[in-house]
Amino acid sequence: MKKKLFAFSMAAIMVAGMTAGCSKPATDTQEPAGEETGTESEALGDVSVGVCIYKFDDTFMTGVRNNMQAQADAMGISLEVVDSQNKQPTQNEQVDTFITKGVTALAVNPVDRTAAGPLVEKASAAGLPIVFFNREPEADVMQSYDKVWYVGAKAEESGTMSGEIIADYWNAHKDTMDKNGDGKLQYIMITGEPGHQDATLRTEYSVKALQDAGIEVEKLAEDTAMWDKVKATDLMKAFISSHGIDSIEAILCNNDDMALGAIEALKSEGYNTGDPAKYIPVVGVDATAPALEAMANGSLLGTVLNDAENQGIATTNIAAQAAAGNEITEETIGYEITDGKYVWVPYVKVTADNYADFQ
Ligand code: GAL
Ligand code: CA
Repeated sequence: MKKKLFAFSMAAIMVAGMTAGCSKPATDTQEPAGEETGTESEALGDVSVGVCIYKFDDTFMTGVRNNMQAQADAMGISLEVVDSQNKQPTQNEQVDTFITKGVTALAVNPVDRTAAGPLVEKASAAGLPIVFFNREPEADVMQSYDKVWYVGAKAEESGTMSGEIIADYWNAHKDTMDKNGDGKLQYIMITGEPGHQDATLRTEYSVKALQDAGIEVEKLAEDTAMWDKVKATDLMKAFISSHGIDSIEAILCNNDDMALGAIEALKSEGYNTGDPAKYIPVVGVDATAPALEAMANGSLLGTVLNDAENQGIATTNIAAQAAAGNEITEETIGYEITDGKYVWVPYVKVTADNYADFQ
């Protein structure tokens, strides 16, 4: 992942360090960001961003958090990151504390995306910019204040890509994959947290991609494992007991941790350990390091890159530039802005052909 996106990320760092008068991103991507000098860095020197993460115990969000910190270090700004422990009231108090302490911008990964309104009111009362990321607030909340932005990815895209990975496999291996020979694909769906846009849309669009590929599908079971690996293992074990492993022809998971959890359950039945007669295709989303390892050893069919690096960098860049009083444009933050408020970081399909590029 680092290799492939290096040039773009460095460009984003460069852009963040540019003087306000410049209108084009720097082209010399070889120059380390730490050596950036100039007036803009001085202006950013006073920036202090208060960051809330819905919970630290989340593999993908840990990636976003680490990339935010790395970008802040490269820009020479201060970033304080707190764990909201999956509790919205805790997060609300953390935002109050950040404001009392005098941060100059807020960056929030909400616990409950439908509860972002009060956070915007707090930011607005203090005159501070607030950047949400990963959990998208409702449109009216986004419009309720001029200094609110959102950084995320179009969940539909990831759903479509994960469905296409299964569809391609079905088309290439229908004889073995259609275990009961009925011409239909019997699948299991393991979903993320209910109400999360990524859970709803990935579920919907992955099935739609299968149908759009002309595949008749039959859902054997669907339930949430809350983005969590251990919960997914338990859930998958229950599905295996109730449906029988022989009836399952594919497993679609809203993220990689749950895909890896489902694979644990398959492994305890002797599946997905190398015997081609005992294999069920599983897909996830995120392209975390353990998922890429599972692709290398053949237990995971595919995933979709949820770009923690660029989401982290974009969030930090917006918070820093807005705190410094600069206008938020593609030139100042290094990413395209939609409707003046949204940065959409693209997903990338990860298959056997390209997974090594992301390791
Ligand atoms: C999703 C990601 C999940 C989980 C979730 C947290 O985008 O795929 O693994 O991190 O965000 O909100
Ligand atoms: Ca079948």
